[in-house]
Amino acid sequence: MTYRILVFYGSYRSDRMGIRLADYVVKGLRARGEDVELIDAKAVGLPMLDRMYKEYPPGSAPEAMAALAGNIRAADAFVFVAGEYNWGMQPGLKNLTDHFLEEWFWRPAAIVSYSAGRIAGARSNFLWHGTLCEMGMVVISSTLSLGPIAETLTANGEPQGHAGQHLDGAFPRFADDLAWWAEAARSQRARKAPPY
Ligand SMILES: Cc1cc2nc3c(=O)[nH]c(=O)nc-3n(C[C@H](O)[C@H](O)[C@H](O)COP(=O)(O)O)c2cc1C
Repeated sequence: MTYRILVFYGSYRSDRMGIRLADYVVKGLRARGEDVELIDAKAVGLPMLDRMYKEYPPGSAPEAMAALAGNIRAADAFVFVAGEYNWGMQPGLKNLTDHFLEEWFWRPAAIVSYSAGRIAGARSNFLWHGTLCEMGMVVISSTLSLGPIAETLTANGEPQGHAGQHLDGAFPRFADDLAWWAEAARSQRARKAPPY
């Protein structure tokens, strides 16, 4: 069975590194036959939150926001690529995420984190967990944490060295868990239509 999976990444920095992990996850899930799309918050370019998508009168939301709302609703699962700024989340990804609420409901989400150092984005990973639960997603327990990202993935998102080998070793179980929950949520949505 193929699942529609959106991979979200939200650094706006010119010299951003987390795109390596986003690319790695996209490639890895595609190699398993999933239907995967990278949602790069910088490319989507939503404004700083003013109105949530649902607060716009029907048909009047900015085009990129409306398209993304439809894309989220059509998905089976999400992956959030979480970098860490000063022990916190990256604001670009949080801003994108906050524009939606009901669109996220009834689907699993996985968090993959990274940082320049050995802490591997652990604090941001932890923060995203609560936020995604609050937004109606089922956060799966499997996660990937990379640190230092530059020693783990090349600029093309290819694993390198011992850390890269470890990542490749952990990925199948991570992807299996996400697929299991994607199937469970999809079959439950089909059995009983979500109320929102
Ligand atoms: C403003 C800022 C704050 C940072 N704070 C942390 C931090 O709290 N913990 C950490 O492990 N790395 C921190 N870093 C280093 C980041 O992990 C590293 O720069 C990483 O590549 C950022 O992700 P990005 O390149 O995708 O933007 C920080 C970097 C920036 C630019």
